[in-house]
Amino acid sequence: MQRMDVGILGATGMVGQQFIRQLAAHPWFRPAWLAASERSEGKRYGEAASWRLSWPLPDEIASTPVKACTPGSAPQIVFSALDAAAANTIEPEFARAGHVIVSNTRSFRMDPVVPLLIPEVNADHLQLLEVQRRARGWRGAIVTNPNCSTVVLSMALAPLRQFGLKSVMVTTMQAVSGAGYPGVPSLDILGNVIPWISGEEEKIESETQKILGTFEDDGVTAYPVVVSAQTTRVPVVDGHTLSISVALDTKPSPADVIAAFGAFTGRPQALGLPSAPPRPILYLDQPNRPQPRLDAGRDGGMTVTIGRVRPCRVLDLKFIALGHNTIRGAAGAAVLNAELMIAEGAIHGD
Ligand SMILES: NC(=O)c1ccc[n+]([C@@H]2O[C@H](COP(=O)([O-])OP(=O)(O)OC[C@H]3O[C@@H](n4cnc5c(N)ncnc54)[C@H](OP(=O)(O)O)[C@@H]3O)[C@@H](O)[C@H]2O)c1
Repeated sequence: MQRMDVGILGATGMVGQQFIRQLAAHPWFRPAWLAASERSEGKRYGEAASWRLSWPLPDEIASTPVKACTPGSAPQIVFSALDAAAANTIEPEFARAGHVIVSNTRSFRMDPVVPLLIPEVNADHLQLLEVQRRARGWRGAIVTNPNCSTVVLSMALAPLRQFGLKSVMVTTMQAVSGAGYPGVPSLDILGNVIPWISGEEEKIESETQKILGTFEDDGVTAYPVVVSAQTTRVPVVDGHTLSISVALDTKPSPADVIAAFGAFTGRPQALGLPSAPPRPILYLDQPNRPQPRLDAGRDGGMTVTIGRVRPCRVLDLKFIALGHNTIRGAAGAAVLNAELMIAEGAIHGD
């Protein structure tokens, strides 16, 4: 397949940089069109972006001029890593103009006609695109991926639906790269924990129900799980760690749950999509894992690593889950969404 030109809105930010990395050598996509705010417009990408990745920025990308976020000249598929306030208006403008927006931003995740996708969990929610087309009349479309902690939680919970998942308590320990760049001031975060991330708990609690929900009657019926979330920011560079307790109707043993994690697979693995990890979830037996520094980057940052499944004295079972926030929680997730859409015929590439 010939590589298809794609665009990136918000290309200069933390997630935008991960998009560049994910797409630079992608077998299907080529990052040909880069856009950001007025601050960056007209500059070469290498001057506009404060490059934070240890992976070296390719010269070809560094010399690409940064465009304004206006539709028309952009390719058909445009990934969005925009600040949410900007995305509120810019993403629908692009969809109206015929572009397929594959977005990271929170702006439209809970819109009832916008798919909130994790391809291993709810690939069938792509059916919402037809509902969206009828409801909005856009020539293009918007699809979204979840909040960076919600992805990790929902992937861990998806295999537990078979045990009658009822309620969840989750506490997150979130990396500083999740706050964008320059993000949290160093004097606030070094040697410290900040017990609040604006709007994060509400996103985790509501998005999880939509992701685990069922597509029926032209919409998604939310999965009836009650989620209580507490979120914290910790001095870790990459990788969100979640401490999770679950109540399960059928009272499985820890071994049953570990087996369910190991057996979990989905459409990306069946279709052999380029960004699909071999196993969406890897369970580690060692009692001191997963750890962000050792495990967040596994399989290109696309695997969720789980450990420490054991009985919980309040709910039924508890465990630790970890995922890479700017890859599986953002850019890698969106690239996997676009791969799924192409493989399932939802984007034709013309
Ligand atoms: N970081 C994560 O782990 C993560 C995970 C999941 C989702 N997200 C979401 O992804 C989005 C990007 O996050 P980030 O961490 O990459 O943020 P960031 O580093 O602050 O980058 C924001 C990007 O948006 C652009 N932008 C800001 N205001 C704009 C405007 N008015 N018009 C056009 N472009 C504008 C910026 O361009 P300039 O450089 O020109 O200012 C920059 O490219 C956010 O919505 C965030 O909530 C982030």
